[in-house]
Amino acid sequence: MSALTQSPAWRALQAYQTVMAQQHLRELFNRDPQRFNKFSLSFSDMLIDYSKQPINDETVELLLTLARQQQLEGWIARMFSGDKINSTEHRAALHIALRGQHPIVVDGVDVMPEVKRVLKQMERFTIAVQSGARRGYSGKMFTDIVNIGIGGSDLGPAMVTEALKPYWLNGITPHFISNVDGAQLTQVLQRLNPETTLFVIASKTFTTQETLANAHSARQWFLSHGGSEKNIAQHFVAVSTNQPAVEQFGIDAENMFVFWDWVGGRYSLWSAIGLPIALTIGMDNFYALLAGAREMDQHFASAPLEKNMPVMLGLIGIWQINFFGSSSHAILPYDQCLHRFPAYLQQLDMESNGKRITRDGEMVDYATGAVVWGEPGTNGQHAFFQLLHQGTQTISADFLAPCQSHYLIGDHHRMLLANFLAQTEALMTGKTETEVRAELEAQGMDTQVATQLVLHKVFPGNRPTTSILFKKLTPQTLGSLIALYEHKVFVQSVIWNINPFDQWGVELGKQLAGKILVELAEKASTSAHDASTCGLIDFIRNNQ
Ligand code: F6P
Repeated sequence: MSALTQSPAWRALQAYQTVMAQQHLRELFNRDPQRFNKFSLSFSDMLIDYSKQPINDETVELLLTLARQQQLEGWIARMFSGDKINSTEHRAALHIALRGQHPIVVDGVDVMPEVKRVLKQMERFTIAVQSGARRGYSGKMFTDIVNIGIGGSDLGPAMVTEALKPYWLNGITPHFISNVDGAQLTQVLQRLNPETTLFVIASKTFTTQETLANAHSARQWFLSHGGSEKNIAQHFVAVSTNQPAVEQFGIDAENMFVFWDWVGGRYSLWSAIGLPIALTIGMDNFYALLAGAREMDQHFASAPLEKNMPVMLGLIGIWQINFFGSSSHAILPYDQCLHRFPAYLQQLDMESNGKRITRDGEMVDYATGAVVWGEPGTNGQHAFFQLLHQGTQTISADFLAPCQSHYLIGDHHRMLLANFLAQTEALMTGKTETEVRAELEAQGMDTQVATQLVLHKVFPGNRPTTSILFKKLTPQTLGSLIALYEHKVFVQSVIWNINPFDQWGVELGKQLAGKILVELAEKASTSAHDASTCGLIDFIRNNQ
C-alpha cells in the first residue's frame, strides 16, 4: 500500500465517504440553509458553487487536511518560484511567468525579460499584419491566418479564438489545421487565396510528424498556386523552441517566435503559441487574456486553501475520483462560444494527470485523472443527459455559463440559463416515486398503467454538479477560467504525487507509427507485428 492510501488523512476520508454516501443532497440542503453560502466562492466576476457536491463541513476539513499533508502550499510556492518541478524532464513549469510581472529565475537567469521581448515581437507583428504594413506577396492585405500545429500547439489557440469570436477584428479569419488526415488541410485550403493567407507553423519541438507533414503540404500548395520561393518568408512564420529545425524547414529566424522548454505544450497558449489569437482579436485583447490568468495566478498563490478556487475545485475532484469512484468528469459549458473548451480541457487534464507512476517512481494504488468529456448545453441535454439523470453511473459535472451573452437575440440567453439552472437542480433533487405517482394520478392515468410506468419516471437525483458562473465571456474572464483549470489539474497532481508536466505515454504510438509508415509503402506483407496488426496492414494494402 502506498504512503498516500495508508495516510491518516486518506483513511479518514475513506471512512467519511460511507457517512456521506448515505445522505441525499436534497437532505443536505433541507438541513442546512447556509449550504450555498458555505460552499461557494467568488473571485472577480466569477462564482463557483460546489454546494451540489456530496460534502459538508467535515468533508471540507478532511480534504483540506489531505491537501496540507501532501504539502500543497509548498508545491504551489515551488511552481511559482521556478523550481524544476517537472522532474522527469528536469524542467521548471512556468506558464505563470508568461503572464507574470515579477522576476523569476531559472538556472540563474531571470526569464521575464525574454518573455516581454517575445510579447513585444508579437505585438509588432500583429500590428503590422492588422494595419497592412505587412502584406502578402501581391500587395494585398492578409485576410486568413492558418495555424498548423497539434495538441497544445492547436487546442489552446483554437479554443480561445472560438471563445472570443465577438472580439474578432474585421477582415481576419483564423483557421486551424492539426490532423494529418489530408481532408482537413484540403478542405481549409480550397477556400483560401495564397496571396492573402498567412501560415503560422506552431510546434514546440518542430519534430511532430503531423505538423511537419501539414506544413510541407501547405508550402507546396502555396508554391503551386502562385507563390514563389522568395515569397515564403512573407507568408510563413514559425513558433517553436527549436530554431535549427525551423531554419531547416526553410523559415528564417527573423520570422520565428520563440518560447522555452519550461512551457509545457498544453500550457503554452499564453506564449507565442498564442500568436493566432493575437492576430485574430488584437494584442490588447491578448494582453487582457494574460491579465485574467495573472489575476487567477495571484489568487491561487495567495488565497488560503479553503477560499482558493483552484484548490477547492481540485479537492472536489479528488473526493469524487478517489472516494466516490467517479472515473469520468463532464464539462458542460452553457455557452456556444466555449464549444471547444471540453476538448481543450481533455488534453490539459488527461495528458497531465493520466499517470500511474508517482514522483518517487512507484506504482500508484489509487485512481488518478478521470476521463474528461463534454459538449455545450443545451445540446447535451438532448443527447447524453439521459445517462446523467437515470444511468447506473454517477458522473460528476461542471456546468459553466455567462450571466450576459454577447448575442442579444430574443429570449435565447434567458432560456439557456433556465436550462442550466433546471438541469443542475434536477440532477441534485431528482424526483421520488411518491412524487411521480402523485403526478401521474393528477393526470388521471389509470392506476395499473401508472404502476408500470412509475419506476421509469423516477429520477434518483443526488447527482453531483459544480456550477461556474461569470458575468460575461471577456478575454479577461476567459484567461481566469483557463488558469483556474490549469491550477486545478496541478492541485490534483500534488495530491496524487505525480508529475503533471510530462507526457511519456504519447511516445510508443509515435515510434510504432514511424515503423509502420515504412511498411505500408512496401509491397511484401509483413510479419513484424502481432497477427491483428499484420492482418490490418494487409487489408489496407489490398484495398488501396
Ligand atoms: O504528442 C503529444 C504532444 O507532445 C503534446 O504534448 C503537444 O502539445 C503536442 O504533441 C504537439 O507537440 P509540438 O508542439 O512539439 O508539435
